[in-house]
Amino acid sequence: MIEHPSDSHTLETYEATGGYAGARKAMDMTRDELVELVKSSGLIGRGGAGFSAGLKWSFLAPARPAYLIVNGDESEPGTFKDRQLLERDPHQMIEGIVITAVANEVHEAFIYIRGEYPLPARRVQRALAEAYAKGYLGKGIFGTDYELEVTVHLGGGAYICGEETALINSLEGRRGEPRIKPPYFPAAKGLYMMPTIVNNVETVSNLPYILEHGADAYRALGHDVDTGTFLFSVSGHVNRPGNYELPHGITWRDLIFDVAGGIRAGNELKTWIPGGASAPWFVPSQHLDDEITKDACGKAGSMLGSGAVIVMDDTTCVVRAAERVVRFFAHESCGQCTPCREGTTWEEMILRRIEEGAGREVDTDLLLDVADNISPGLLWPPKMTTICPLGPSSVSPITSITRYFKDEVMAHIHGGGCPFD
Ligand SMILES: Cc1cc2nc3c(=O)[nH]c(=O)nc-3n(C[C@H](O)[C@H](O)[C@H](O)COP(=O)(O)O)c2cc1C
Ligand code: SF4
Repeated sequence: MIEHPSDSHTLETYEATGGYAGARKAMDMTRDELVELVKSSGLIGRGGAGFSAGLKWSFLAPARPAYLIVNGDESEPGTFKDRQLLERDPHQMIEGIVITAVANEVHEAFIYIRGEYPLPARRVQRALAEAYAKGYLGKGIFGTDYELEVTVHLGGGAYICGEETALINSLEGRRGEPRIKPPYFPAAKGLYMMPTIVNNVETVSNLPYILEHGADAYRALGHDVDTGTFLFSVSGHVNRPGNYELPHGITWRDLIFDVAGGIRAGNELKTWIPGGASAPWFVPSQHLDDEITKDACGKAGSMLGSGAVIVMDDTTCVVRAAERVVRFFAHESCGQCTPCREGTTWEEMILRRIEEGAGREVDTDLLLDVADNISPGLLWPPKMTTICPLGPSSVSPITSITRYFKDEVMAHIHGGGCPFD
């Protein structure tokens, strides 16, 4: 993305550093040209699924009106990068919205912001008012006859509303629960059953750079197929937690020990979650020198997801950590699918039993059996018996601790409690 000073939430600062040049360029381009440009930039979505942005745009069904929704729900534990983009650089996202709208012949866009983000929402509202006043939004934008209206909608506090079809239901005023597939993509049928592009805040915030500097320059920032830069939200037991914008292709060792300052208090690195709470965990003996790319993470049995890297040191009880993650998914399950609704609750209860010292020898097999009912075969990428990936996400901490930390799990069971207490 383009680097702007810290006060670039104002239009004045944003424009003084070249803001809205990309949107102006887009106004003179056709849909085909814009879709091709974004396809050739290699930009992949930053909301977690890692799908090509240009390809998604090319799928947009021909019926009109079409809509654009920018997903700023950001409720995955450990993910806090969209918050910074919304709060510190809202015009960059708004410029990305203009570009996406023109590329997809959209005249009505929505920004869905996590309800617990009051300051980012206020900054976005203020930035929208500035853009409307300047003629960058509304009727006849940038002196053309193009109309684009943008509305902010605050989320109701449920993680599941980040799943794009649940988000669409929520936006329509319905209960925020995922829709049954097909249609697989809102690009076929989405908001009000019309073609809809759903893109993440970071995804659209990449577009001004691509328009201004071109696809080749964007590709050159990255690594072979994983082009551009990527925002990592690093949290947990590191000395310097925070958001870091970096090229793909550095190693986990670089990220954790150089960029994030290494492990607190001189402790040892025990494990880390590479891409949000849904991702299977990595361990230093196998993954520390792996390159950070979508492909490498996938081959190693996990994902980059939303870029949330949660680091745990050797003082961490992995059973307690897994129980905490699973409890989140059990709490956030919308309850439509039996394997998710019942299975996540059972997973949580069994993990808590082990942690509290009442675990039995059979409990590890029982845990894996319950997990297998949610995600058959316990494979990666996961297979699903559910409408959306939330249920299968709850399986990741369980397969991680049984694969890498079986001895520690068994020590809880044989020792009658948590060895870290
Ligand atoms: C349970 C669940 C929660 C999700 N939460 C978010 C979220 O908070 N923000 C987001 O951008 N995508 C989220 N997604 C992914 C969206 O469904 C969708 O793929 C994404 O917004 C598309 O944008 P992108 O192509 O730009 O990545 C979530 C998916 C699932 C299954
Ligand atoms: S997997 Fe869980 S969260 Fe997703 S639709 Fe089914 S019950 Fe709801």
